Amino acid sequence: MRSYKSLFYGIVFLIFIFFSNICSASKENDFLNDQRKGERIFKGFTVEGKSYNACIECHNIKPTVNINWAPSIFELQNKIKSDSDYDLASKFSNPSGELFIKLHSDISLDENEIKYIKSYILSVDKSNVNTRKSYFTLIKLLFSLILIFVSVFVIVKKQNIILRSLMSVSIIAASAYLSHTIYLQASNMGLSQYYAPDQPIKFSHKIHVQQNKLDCQYCHHSVDDSKSATIPHTNLCLNCHTVVREGGMSGKFEIDKIHKYITEHKHTKWNRIHSLPDHVYFNHSQHVNIAGLDCTECHGDVQNQHIQKQISPLSMGWCIDCHKERNVNVHNGYYKEFDINSNNKSVADQGGRDCSKCHY
Ligand code: HEC
Ligand code: HEC
Ligand code: HEC
Ligand code: HEC
Ligand code: HEC
Ligand code: HEC
Repeated sequence: MRSYKSLFYGIVFLIFIFFSNICSASKENDFLNDQRKGERIFKGFTVEGKSYNACIECHNIKPTVNINWAPSIFELQNKIKSDSDYDLASKFSNPSGELFIKLHSDISLDENEIKYIKSYILSVDKSNVNTRKSYFTLIKLLFSLILIFVSVFVIVKKQNIILRSLMSVSIIAASAYLSHTIYLQASNMGLSQYYAPDQPIKFSHKIHVQQNKLDCQYCHHSVDDSKSATIPHTNLCLNCHTVVREGGMSGKFEIDKIHKYITEHKHTKWNRIHSLPDHVYFNHSQHVNIAGLDCTECHGDVQNQHIQKQISPLSMGWCIDCHKERNVNVHNGYYKEFDINSNNKSVADQGGRDCSKCHY
């Protein structure tokens, strides 16, 4: 009998811990430190008598899949880390940039609020935010599993109606929590499939190619006559961005980076998206110039995307399938040189399936 009683108290304790997590988040605390005060303003618990959009509505504190033109909190951190409180205050009291003024016009922050916000922004640690959370989730998952096992055990062993119904309720609650968490984790996992790496500058093909009618070759100028398409050097961006200093979506923030990289003599470290293994030979000019293929055949609808991603699998099967189905273009100058005159030869017939053509 005694052992059941302690078991019962044990379970009540577990349930208490379980729900105290949820309650602690909403607990009022009059003795908040600067960081917490800043966090509250940033997240929209604005000071009484003031109303404006929470910073978090535009400035993300978590990674997203869709493009967010406003700088994330981590980018703000980078930008303001060497600013004094006064510098940050004057960004609001004496703002520059059309978009910045437009989006922050209803925000009024006093000296203290600026100090709080700054200390919050500087305190956020990207790696910390993620690891602490998953650790926490793991503990909660473990708790609910134990809770379920113990409850089942009690229901099987005990006749007491009240105890039994109590245990049934806890099983339902714990299972609901478990399946909800597992569902969230599972749907997050799939995201890596569409993962397009964050780039150091939010460069958009849609804005440059579709809206401003630039040719792909304007920037990827080696694509016609060499193996690689190459990513343009930041100097090329200056052709326009010495004049165009502000974008409609990101204001000065992203274009400022171009000038920062140039003045600091740094390369923009673009994250590579398409990448074949070293043992594969692929040549752009063979496909673009000689075969006359459009970029979209392999890269998809680049001109309509803000964020670049890999559309094709780049697998061996993908290369060979196309070689089997396409004919070589024997009418261009390249093949006249080699005196090939049969018309209906697929790339594969022509040698496009030979291991040595694609492998070093
Ligand atoms: C409606 C969207 C929106 C809201 C709300 C918003 N911002 Fe911004 N913010 C932006 C955008 C977009 C930029 C980039 C524009 C630019 O710098 O020209 C920006 C830029 C900034 C910058 C960078 C300035 C620099 O040095 O270039 C700071 C700092 C900033 N915001 C702070 C805040 C704070 C603090 C709040 C909340 C009190 C806030 N923002 C609310 C959209 C927003
Ligand atoms: C104004 C210059 C510019 C123009 C015009 C341009 N690009 Fe790009 N392109 C870039 C930059 C910068 C990057 C690297 C950043 C990124 O991945 O978004 C890039 C990246 C890419 C990538 C991904 C490279 C990788 O890492 O695997 C592809 C594919 C691409 N461009 C294709 C195209 C195509 C197709 C067009 C024409 C429809 C085009 N680009 C027009 C500048 C340009
Ligand atoms: C041939 C001219 C030209 C070149 C070259 C060029 N851009 Fe642009 N870029 C523009 C124009 C035009 C806009 C649109 C400005 C606007 O929104 O009104 C723009 C907008 C942008 C924006 C802001 C988008 C927005 O709406 O907020 C960024 C960021 C940008 N470009 C980055 C780059 C980078 C990085 C390069 C070099 C790889 C580059 N651009 C090369 C003409 C150019
Ligand atoms: C037949 C398919 C195919 C076509 C057509 C094609 N590409 Fe590519 N592209 C690739 C492959 C495959 C890679 C990866 C190459 C590697 O990793 O060596 C790539 C890589 C790139 C890159 C990354 C930098 C590099 O050279 O590795 C850019 C930029 C690019 N392509 C732009 C273009 C542009 C612009 C066009 C049209 C003018 C185009 N591509 C046409 C298949 C193609
Ligand atoms: C969308 C169709 C398409 C895809 C995808 C494609 N190719 Fe090709 N490839 C062609 C065509 C068409 C030719 C013939 C060019 C010509 O006329 O000589 C060709 C020719 C070649 C050649 C020269 C063959 C020879 O006989 O000299 C090599 C090597 C090659 N491709 C490698 C690759 C590799 C590696 C990949 C995958 C990463 C790939 N290709 C993907 C269409 C494609
Ligand atoms: C049209 C181009 C092409 C031809 C022809 C080709 N391969 Fe490949 N092969 C590739 C590409 C692209 C990859 C890389 C695939 C990847 O990264 O998943 C690859 C990968 C491989 C791999 C590594 C497997 C792996 O999963 O990484 C081997 C082994 C291989 N090929 C053998 C061959 C042999 C043997 C032949 C001749 C019968 C051949 N290949 C013909 C394009 C080709």
